[in-house]
Amino acid sequence: MKEIYLDNAATTKVREGVKQEILNYFDVVYGNPGSFHSKGLEAKDSIEDAREKISKLINCKPKEIIFTSGGTESINLALKGLAKAMKDQGNHIITTKTEHHAVLSTCEYLEKYEGCEVTYLDVDQYGLVNIKDIEAAIKENTILITIMYANNEIGTINPIKEIGELARKNNIYFHTDACQAAGYCDINVENLNLDLMTINGSKIYGPKGVGILYAKQGIQLIPLIHGGGQERNLRSGTENVPAIMGFAKALELAQEEKDSEVKRLTILRDKLVNGVLNNIQKTFLNGHPTKRLPNNANVSILDIEGEALTLYLNEYGIYTSTGSACTSQTLDPSHVVLATGLPYEAAHGSIRFTLGKETKEEDINKVLELLPGIVKILRQISPVNVAAEHIIEARSKK
Ligand SMILES: Cc1ncc(COP(=O)(O)O)c(C=O)c1O
Repeated sequence: MKEIYLDNAATTKVREGVKQEILNYFDVVYGNPGSFHSKGLEAKDSIEDAREKISKLINCKPKEIIFTSGGTESINLALKGLAKAMKDQGNHIITTKTEHHAVLSTCEYLEKYEGCEVTYLDVDQYGLVNIKDIEAAIKENTILITIMYANNEIGTINPIKEIGELARKNNIYFHTDACQAAGYCDINVENLNLDLMTINGSKIYGPKGVGILYAKQGIQLIPLIHGGGQERNLRSGTENVPAIMGFAKALELAQEEKDSEVKRLTILRDKLVNGVLNNIQKTFLNGHPTKRLPNNANVSILDIEGEALTLYLNEYGIYTSTGSACTSQTLDPSHVVLATGLPYEAAHGSIRFTLGKETKEEDINKVLELLPGIVKILRQISPVNVAAEHIIEARSKK
């Protein structure tokens, strides 16, 4: 049975070129970058080369990049680090209700333990934040706006450049969580008016457990981890050299292939979405129809449990998910889908297909061939029968 992996938003398979790159830093360049002998210096030079390569890809200075253990740590460093450093200037943060839990839980921590005040903005039915709402939320004491670039569950892409302009005009720092966007969107921090940006390796065919925080020169951050003073004192601990080198290679290759992959995946994504919506009744798309990631197809299929569908598909070697991998331990409907205004009973039937580099048209055909039959079986055993008309009508309203 051929496996069809459609969960690339959870993580991607490490690509061959990256794997080859990494091995060298286990086998040959294995020194500690902090050691003064040649073995250490070659490791140090390697990570500085990686930093330089990444800085060119995102258009910043090498010293504005901090290597971390992934998206969660970068976000924690950006939010906690800035809030602690700026506590005398202000304590108000603006974010949205649809952020990844790395942002939401960090904000909750800051409210509970650091005396911060956080505004969690609503989004529209497509998951988009409204610039006017951000503007209206700005106060004297606002220090940071943190709004995700592209949503990990429904794929909606926020107007980052415009938010950046607004933040700059008001002298407020702007952080974006670009973990899902890095392979598909512009990540030029100057174009986007960004002060802070998070990217991780695991979504760009790189290793897990590595990421970067871009922090514009001059921004003060209080470190989360103290020790040997690596990463300009902002992130102590011996650098994960193989992962850093793999991350730099993965980002380079992802950016090289960006345009062609966006084109290719958009066609496959639309085929999948249209195939589901046209052939299965009581279905609709979650997220924005066009301002969305080219690899994300999140659909609601009413009267079934998304989890049951993912398990069924799993039996055929098709790997999908109902939402964020990090929260899939609970059976609560996704906070993102709920934030777009779907009623609780309808939010249960959402399923996320996230395509990737290895997805072929035949994979999409296979899913479309199997899905109607599986949905029919699941609906036969389902006790729910959600009145769909008003939901579908509300979704199609501009
Ligand atoms: C949008 C978004 N932010 C943050 C994270 C957390 O990243 P990591 O798992 O590298 O800590 C993820 C990945 O799950 C994500 O999709």
